[in-house]
Amino acid sequence: MSISRRQFVIGSTATAVALFNLRRSFAQQGEQFSNELKIPPLLEGKPSVNGKIYELTMQAGTSEFLPGIATPTIGFNGSYLGPTIHGRAGDQLILRVRNLLSEPATVHWHGLRIPARFDGGPHQLIEPGAVWEPSFRINQKASLCWYHSHTMGRTGEQVLRGLAGLFLIDDDESGSVGLPTEYGVDDIPLVIQDRRFQRDGRFDYPMSMHDTMMGYKGDVILVNGSVTPHFNILRQLTRLRVLNGSNSRIYSIGRDDGADLMIVGSDGSLLERPVSQRQLRLGPGERAELLIDAKANQSFRLMSYPDSVHAGPMGRGMMMGTMSDNSETFPLLELRAANFETINVSIPTKLIQVPNWLPAKSTLTRTLTLDMAMMGMGMMGRSNLSGSMGINGRSMSKERIDFEVPAGSIEIWEIRNSTPLPHPFHIHGIQFRVLDRDGAPPLPQEGGLKDTVLVDSGSVVRVITEFTRAASAEYAYMYHCHNLEHEDAGMMGQFVVV
Ligand code: C2O
Ligand code: CU
Ligand code: CU
Repeated sequence: MSISRRQFVIGSTATAVALFNLRRSFAQQGEQFSNELKIPPLLEGKPSVNGKIYELTMQAGTSEFLPGIATPTIGFNGSYLGPTIHGRAGDQLILRVRNLLSEPATVHWHGLRIPARFDGGPHQLIEPGAVWEPSFRINQKASLCWYHSHTMGRTGEQVLRGLAGLFLIDDDESGSVGLPTEYGVDDIPLVIQDRRFQRDGRFDYPMSMHDTMMGYKGDVILVNGSVTPHFNILRQLTRLRVLNGSNSRIYSIGRDDGADLMIVGSDGSLLERPVSQRQLRLGPGERAELLIDAKANQSFRLMSYPDSVHAGPMGRGMMMGTMSDNSETFPLLELRAANFETINVSIPTKLIQVPNWLPAKSTLTRTLTLDMAMMGMGMMGRSNLSGSMGINGRSMSKERIDFEVPAGSIEIWEIRNSTPLPHPFHIHGIQFRVLDRDGAPPLPQEGGLKDTVLVDSGSVVRVITEFTRAASAEYAYMYHCHNLEHEDAGMMGQFVVV
């Protein structure tokens, strides 16, 4: 293991003493954050009579994350991750997805309000050599969505190896509020992921009991595929669009200079107004938009702090000990401001109107209880955990539609977590509002549209939305835990809208 490799070890695999030494040598050498942040290229569609055509090719290659070490990876139009797809509300898109991998895969458009047959769930397998060409109109608020593999039982592994990218949607409303919009200059995407490496450079993805149960945790942080990088801030106001693209790690993002973060957006829209808070907790699949008001020559780091909400009452003293593996402090990215002229920029105080649905209009409250059967004694000693996790007592089956939602209806989904771990719960095909958490108002950062929400151990989170899009049994929508190891172990179900 090379020194530079060891510098980035953050995880529980190292002892406290080793970590202390690493951090010290890290600081002394002063060569940390030497990598410049990679920015995924923007992919604009080519105009055609039927809509804008976007070409995406899934391909295998190698990537150099650690100096001099080649890691076999997969990606879209490149060896790791994919381009940032850019579209505008109202656009008709044609996505031409070619699979040049030697394995079948699917591509799901996470956060998009599109018909289920274009959604890219486990039913829409693209065989090696095949092309899949979904076509749909963008009919939603400006937001940072994303796309990733959703292959039944293999999502965790394929996303880990690189099958993910961003999907940026603009509209007139968001363009007029005064937020930075120049991609790669003052509008910066940050895909945060954690990985473990084997000595030969390959990603380490063992499906041990522990990894499946707790979710995969890496000890090296990648931001857009760059290892603990820096970004040179060029303008006084910079917008950071953050995706937690990790399989299972929850981040509590904050600044190391003690300043607050200004949050302006959530998963599926901007917020109504900016919210300032010290830390931002982001579960896998969740997104947030931040606005940085930098002073000239200022430099600070975005850190991840220990997850303040550990396992709830149910997790205490259970067989696993500390149930939440999110207890480290480590840097994500260094931001270095250039020597620009600092002026009195105006920070927008009002952003957009976020759609809302009145609980009184809801025709049904559906209860979804997240279970981990393995926590019971019956699972002890089993080596294969597939099918051991579920929702409402059932593990995901492609052959079973879990329920039907009447088209056009407004429903409240009450997500109950009866397990000792937090779970990021995600619904396909819609954007929802968070109604409440254990009866209390949602977090200020959750005030925009969302499609993924963290549900802590022992908690009940209610969300509300309208189901407008039709989904037939042939191509159902999924709902699932976005901890990808949990999803692959069966904490997923499917519904149709009829
Ligand atoms: Cu981001 Cu069902 O997925
Ligand atoms: Cu999704
Ligand atoms: Cu989960």
